[in-house]
Amino acid sequence: MSFRLQPAAPSVPNRCQLFGPGSNPKLFPKMAASAADVINLDLEDSVAPDDKPQARANVCAALSGQDWGAKTVSVRINALDTPYWHRDVIDVVAAGGKLDRIMIPKVGCAADVYAVDALLTACEREAGRDTPVALEVIIESAAGIAHVEEIASASPRLVAMSLGAADYAASMGMRTTGIGGTQADYYMLHEGARHWSDPWHWAQAAIVAACRTHGLLPVDGPFGDFSDDEGYRAQARRSAVLGTVGKWAIHPKQIALANEVFTPSEEQVAEAREILAAMEAAKAAGAGATTWRGKLVDIASIRQAEGIVRLAESVGA
Ligand code: COA
Ligand code: MG
Repeated sequence: MSFRLQPAAPSVPNRCQLFGPGSNPKLFPKMAASAADVINLDLEDSVAPDDKPQARANVCAALSGQDWGAKTVSVRINALDTPYWHRDVIDVVAAGGKLDRIMIPKVGCAADVYAVDALLTACEREAGRDTPVALEVIIESAAGIAHVEEIASASPRLVAMSLGAADYAASMGMRTTGIGGTQADYYMLHEGARHWSDPWHWAQAAIVAACRTHGLLPVDGPFGDFSDDEGYRAQARRSAVLGTVGKWAIHPKQIALANEVFTPSEEQVAEAREILAAMEAAKAAGAGATTWRGKLVDIASIRQAEGIVRLAESVGA
């Protein structure tokens, strides 16, 4: 370890973040009854400009009027270049009720987070609120990914960071209209055969590194084609291997897929426990490395295995 220890990310289930437009309150009871760990009530891009005030009022009413059970409730406010975001923050904090997080979209630098933090702090004091609202951000622009590390350290309120594939692709000038997943033109040729690669890989890995450095939860964002279960699974599995803890659902079909991928399987947990036991035995024999199922395991394997066990415990698996 570096002299500076890596802080742990919050130990809350975050396998699936289910989105729904604030302008469609008929969805709220369905969202509350779903199996998603986090509910994101959206005031931003799924709400048309003329519907912004009504969507905000719907969300404010639902924070106290809807029973959200043990879920984490997060409101996605509008971006800082709009005339809506400050009113979003003021009204949702004044509304009281269950407000665990505010999600800031299109964050481009640490000062964007600072601005929301400052306003939020004033609103909380005015409302006499004693539990602080957490912040989560979406990295979905060239500036966001270029400044990802300073953003991750911008506020002690930050708990999570997601990759927003559609806006990210637009901002980067990527030649695709797909929201996540494999892109037809992103392939290599080997002996005449095409092998597809993952155009989201670098951004995902950069987000995971920034999050792990500063103790945040790295989250994979939306997958637009909700008729493609296998495509969603493949994208989610790739990002889980890189270190993300969950993925968005933009349709209820995707909730079970996210929960499936981001809940460690019984087999993975059993293997992790076997590795821990093998290392305990090695330690007792005075060794720092040993053989498990024909493979090397050493003290680093303990940290890998503990990560899997901890994740399983945090989601009750
Ligand atoms: N949360 C909970 N339930 C939802 C839902 C959501 N986000 N989206 C749809 N449902 C419900 C529908 O109400 C319907 O319920 P019913 O069986 O009781 O009638 C059922 O799931 C099937 O819905 P379906 O007809 O397939 O979809 P739709 O045409 O009603 O809606 C979308 C499709 C994409 C418009 C809708 O899913 C949606 O608004 N998604 C969220 C978009 C969003 O928030 N984007 C911002 C982040 S990228
Ligand atoms: Mg976006």
